[in-house]
Amino acid sequence: MPIIVHEDKHLFEIQTARTSYVFGVNEKGILQHLYWGETIAAHDCAHRLRSRSHSSFDAEVERECEEFSFWGGVGYSEPSLKAQFSDQVRDLKMVFEGYRIEKDKGLECLILILKDAFYNLKVHLYYRIIPELDLIERYAEAVNTGEDDIVLESFQSAAWTMPYMLQSRMTHVAGSWAGEYQLRETVLSEGKKIIESRRGFTGPHANPWFAMDDGSAAESVGEVWFGALGWSGNWKIVAEKTIFEHVRVTGGIHDFDSQWMLRSGESFVTPVFVGGYSSSGFGGMSRTLHRYQREYILPTEAKRKVLYNSWEATTFDVHAGEQIELAKKAAKMGVERFVVDDGWFGKRNSDRAGLGDWDVNPDKFPSGLDALIREVNDLGMDFGIWVEPESVNPDSELYRNHPDWVYHFPTRTGTQLRNQLVLNLAMPEVKQYIIDFMTRLLSSHPIAFIKWDMNRTITEPGLQGFPQEQQREIWIRHVQSLYDIWAELRAKFPNVEFETCAGGGARIDFGMLRFADQAWPSDNTDAFDRLRIQEGFTYVYSPQIMMCWVTDSPNGMNGRKLPLSFRFHSAMTGALGIGGNLREWADSEIGEAAVHITSYKEIRHLVQVGKQYRLSSLRHSKLAAVQYVNDDHTDSVVFVFLHAQQFGRHSQLKLQGLAGGMVYDVEGLSKETVQLHGSTLMKAGIPLNMRGDFDSVMIRIKAREGTHE
Ligand code: GLA
Repeated sequence: MPIIVHEDKHLFEIQTARTSYVFGVNEKGILQHLYWGETIAAHDCAHRLRSRSHSSFDAEVERECEEFSFWGGVGYSEPSLKAQFSDQVRDLKMVFEGYRIEKDKGLECLILILKDAFYNLKVHLYYRIIPELDLIERYAEAVNTGEDDIVLESFQSAAWTMPYMLQSRMTHVAGSWAGEYQLRETVLSEGKKIIESRRGFTGPHANPWFAMDDGSAAESVGEVWFGALGWSGNWKIVAEKTIFEHVRVTGGIHDFDSQWMLRSGESFVTPVFVGGYSSSGFGGMSRTLHRYQREYILPTEAKRKVLYNSWEATTFDVHAGEQIELAKKAAKMGVERFVVDDGWFGKRNSDRAGLGDWDVNPDKFPSGLDALIREVNDLGMDFGIWVEPESVNPDSELYRNHPDWVYHFPTRTGTQLRNQLVLNLAMPEVKQYIIDFMTRLLSSHPIAFIKWDMNRTITEPGLQGFPQEQQREIWIRHVQSLYDIWAELRAKFPNVEFETCAGGGARIDFGMLRFADQAWPSDNTDAFDRLRIQEGFTYVYSPQIMMCWVTDSPNGMNGRKLPLSFRFHSAMTGALGIGGNLREWADSEIGEAAVHITSYKEIRHLVQVGKQYRLSSLRHSKLAAVQYVNDDHTDSVVFVFLHAQQFGRHSQLKLQGLAGGMVYDVEGLSKETVQLHGSTLMKAGIPLNMRGDFDSVMIRIKAREGTHE
């Protein structure tokens, strides 16, 4: 029973396998947070349930740790809900009305019900509990039970109060196009640290995830509190530290330029903000989040296929003949899925035209698309294709026919980014147009995979077709409509797999991952840069969904030359793809690639559904190393990357996640297979014979029969 209500003490206790989460209703009727962390005797918290005032300049101190902060009365910390009633009153007085406990998607869920003392507004706060993972999924619902409209000016998913720490260090990611998921940490002082997107989608500049620790947590040790928001539009996570040393992290849909009209009888539900606790450092946090997405978020359990994508080989110059040539080489290497990227439709010969005209270009495919798909299928691969349905080039038939279908202010000329504008997905006819063309595409061709791209932010947000008071709903409506489209397509085409891409990794979050099987973390395919991007990515997201391509050397983006083995090893730490111009690869390279792909297929189960241990980071060392282990500790693989050897020295590496008493066959350390105990591998470590610059190795570790404990 993960939910315990101590009625006599006015306490609510959420128990997970290893944690307690405790709050109560204090004498002022405020939902006061009391504790979150390793399991304690929750009723001991009762004595802390009280309100205190410091001065007439402050709110009652406990308002800084409200479970959900309603903006009204005296309150200065980040609001979780700010609303305006039809008589212009902007003041909430939410009174605790009661609670329910329900099963939701098979999980125990605590629902608190609050009601405004005067107005017809109810708020339900949800806590859905995943006990075995020590996770709580929080979200909120506002219900207009009266006749008059209510304007929601800010409606956040949750506020997480952190336990007291001598210092509060926040970890998050920052980034840019081609440099996503860069880890950052900052010690909070009084004030706010805000990470956000105001670009219409999740964004490459930040990602809706945070971790908090007292400055002592590391990869494999220490206490870490964390949360991740499932929303693919404008979002905001505010970490606020007050002068009274409360630290609270509030997050949800961004309130910037946003509001939602809650009409009579309607309700609005926020996205989920999942929160958790790990006592085994950032590694423990990541393994929890990886399992969470596999077991509770992703639409499929299927392992990712090895794919080939022709984007870097041909860019917009897509022609059936060359695609077949590429497909033949890919098949020879053992590729399982062949994907044609941008350039196959309309007059799409560059990024200046054609986006929006989703008909197969007859000059590029004189015998039709199906002729190529047949060849690909005959070569033993399934077929995938790229689309970018939310955008349009002004130079397209779609735009010429429907110039009013884009977000715009009528008095302004819309800015073009990558020569494109964004379609107004909130208009029912636009939404239907996308569903219809995708339905046509998927039902008239045997397509197994869609790469869904989005190469533009939303700007100049004029929401045509909506009244003045709903103009600021654009940011929310775009995402809702996008989710509806994906949900409908997935239901209609259950066997088609989808990838989320947005000029690289700009739309990856737990909202999108409810519909997407895999994600494209970055357009940067340099295998060395990728190690940093992939490290940050796996702090939150599973290696199973992390698409990594092996591309040409020198790399098109930065000219870096890397050995083929390094490029493969880097890509084999996630879901492997190939993206090089295979027509220019020597037979020996195709042969070597085939060997790597065969090895990948042998270890794919470890990388994609095993436990991941980040052993060494380029942020602190010249070595990057990552290990994957199966659940019963009998099977493991380690990838090690050397940036630059210095002074002729060799490195050592300690492994993790093995069973101390088991004896393992270790392959890859030297020419011979060596036998070593788990304890030796983890405590004494292994010597590495890596040399020079950009060396890499894959080490395979398998328990010997009969040594299992
Ligand atoms: C984006 C994607 C790339 C590629 C191009 C095509 O940049 O991230 O992988 O699909 O668009 O235009």
